[in-house]
Amino acid sequence: MIDFTSNVRPESMERITNFDLANAFIEEAVAAVRAQVGDKKVLLALSGGVDSSVVAALLIKAIGRQLTCVHVNHGLMRKGESEQVIEVFGKEMDCNLVYVDATDRFLDLLAGVSDPESKRKIIGAEFINVFADEARKLEGVEFLAQGTIYPDILESVKQAEGKKAVKSHHNVGGLPEDLKFALVEPIKLLFKDEVRVVGEALGLPHAMVYRQPFPGPGLGVRCLGAITRDRLHALREADAILREEFAMNGLAEKVWQYFIAVPDIKSVGVKDESRYEGWPAIIRAVNTKDAMTATIEEIPYPVLHKITARITAEVEGINRVLFDLTPKPTGTIEWE
Ligand code: XMP
Repeated sequence: MIDFTSNVRPESMERITNFDLANAFIEEAVAAVRAQVGDKKVLLALSGGVDSSVVAALLIKAIGRQLTCVHVNHGLMRKGESEQVIEVFGKEMDCNLVYVDATDRFLDLLAGVSDPESKRKIIGAEFINVFADEARKLEGVEFLAQGTIYPDILESVKQAEGKKAVKSHHNVGGLPEDLKFALVEPIKLLFKDEVRVVGEALGLPHAMVYRQPFPGPGLGVRCLGAITRDRLHALREADAILREEFAMNGLAEKVWQYFIAVPDIKSVGVKDESRYEGWPAIIRAVNTKDAMTATIEEIPYPVLHKITARITAEVEGINRVLFDLTPKPTGTIEWE
């Protein structure tokens, strides 16, 4: 029996590597959630990432419509991502899904802000504001579900021991005083690979469960410097092309994280025989075990040429494509 209240994973807990083990875990987790929650209501911030999606699917199985999922679109999602959340949780599953398009709220606050930490703080704080606004509209909610996983617990132990964080990571937490919820954290003893197996056993789409990690502040930390809507649009389109080409060339499951960053600089180029000033798109493709250090994946040149040709032809505003060769350290994985 797993102790779902403990923050320490017992040595005896078997690694979940197949559907049989996943189904056994799901059965225990469902019983534990039902015992904890009873007939009360639960709220979940559903980003569409692996962890929150698996918690959502697990809770839907355990308590059905006692769960309300709130998906906040901060306008910094990748192409098609909010749509996938609506498709899976709003249409395919029997789920109370509240979708909030807060794009303008976020982009208006971020206008003119170029300092990376200030951007992170604005996005994190506004996320809590939007989520809290939605939570206050719902009546009788007593629990907040979270997609905390075991590495998050290990990380917070490290921080409590006084190790300095390089960046202020943002995840939900720190809700205002008037919103006091008890936490439901059914996957907090699982490692990421286990969360994925459990997700597939719960019937979530493979693409959602094997989605590469995506930072809380989203494309906000990849649209470098002060975010503008046109550059953010270019970044989103270029990133979608990169993901498409990686998938088509068998790289999507070989490379741990890959994305585009677009800096706030323009260079002179030429298009249709005329001067064409545009931003560069920077490709980042890294492999890592724990995100503390990272190495650069070697991408075949023909793939890089194809991506370059497509991005410069299809994306308005981009006239060059660069490949970032910097491991971590000295670069961090994200540029901001
Ligand atoms: P860095 O850039 O610090 O990133 O090397 C390490 C990993 O963490 C992701 N990342 C975040 N994840 N909230 C998250 O949940 C955040 O605020 C955040 N910032 C960075 C990053 O994408 C990489 O996988």
